[in-house]
Amino acid sequence: VALSFACLPLVSCSGIQSALDPAGEEAGQVAMLFWAMVIGGLVIWAFMVALSLYASRWKRHPISEEAAGRVILWGGVAFPVTVLTALLAYALWLMPSLRPFADQEQAELRIEVVGSQFWWHVVYHRPEGPPVVSANEVRLPVGKRVEFSLTSADMIHSFWIPALGGKMDLIPGRTNRISLLANREGTYRGQCAEFCGTSHALMAFPAIAMAQSDFDAWLDARIGPSTGVEAGGDGQVLFLGEGCGDCHRVDGTPAQGTSGPDLSHMGSRLTIGAAALDNDAEMLARFIAHSASVKPGSQMPSYPDLSVDDLNAIAAWLKGLQ
Ligand code: CUA
Repeated sequence: VALSFACLPLVSCSGIQSALDPAGEEAGQVAMLFWAMVIGGLVIWAFMVALSLYASRWKRHPISEEAAGRVILWGGVAFPVTVLTALLAYALWLMPSLRPFADQEQAELRIEVVGSQFWWHVVYHRPEGPPVVSANEVRLPVGKRVEFSLTSADMIHSFWIPALGGKMDLIPGRTNRISLLANREGTYRGQCAEFCGTSHALMAFPAIAMAQSDFDAWLDARIGPSTGVEAGGDGQVLFLGEGCGDCHRVDGTPAQGTSGPDLSHMGSRLTIGAAALDNDAEMLARFIAHSASVKPGSQMPSYPDLSVDDLNAIAAWLKGLQ
């Protein structure tokens, strides 16, 4: 049992969600601080073990009281105080750069995130052009400082992309800010870091750092309705007929609900249900039919009575919303 518990931290070693495999400026500083603390702690530990071994010999090879006092003063007090003070000074020196938002910085992109049980509303605001609404996925350009403004629709959640930096609470009635700078392209994992209910662990999202040109092209393609909306067909009719549009919005259709995730361009996202499942037609059908068991406690009702053909038609339409 003890060994199992000792191995528990290893589950956090997967690169996409590791603060020790940094892909962002803030995460890099956090990782450096972590290793400095570990090394500082190890130095104190090794020195103390050596001192204890030395002291254990005193019974057989006594030393003078004055010499023993000196060992305790320098080894037991002065040495740890020096190392711990150095670590404290390093941490304090690092802190200003980890402040959520420095005044002089001018973010080129602001991403608004609203947390709800158990999903993320995401809006991209550029200095020019209309905002782009999305959900359960965050994309950002590499090498650009991005400001996240964070709030919550129900209870306290916490926004954390360990590979990039963070974290910051989302609190109802208040807007918190955090700024992140990704310095390596890749797909990382964000996770709600504040217990918020049954499916807290399933309140995650992919965080995708892209080259600026790829990001611009991606964002431009998300302005206005998806071309897949025009294809419409049975899937769209069923989606509207089942009342999905009361909670979900799909740009370019009568579906204009706002209490659930915005599903415009749903097909282009990597995951379903805030990273609960991979995004393909089969998983979409499964999520619609059995959301209560895939994601316990969520507001999304299950539709177990829909026929397989109907589920597939809705899933195919959603997957087509690129
Ligand atoms: Cu939201 Cu935990």
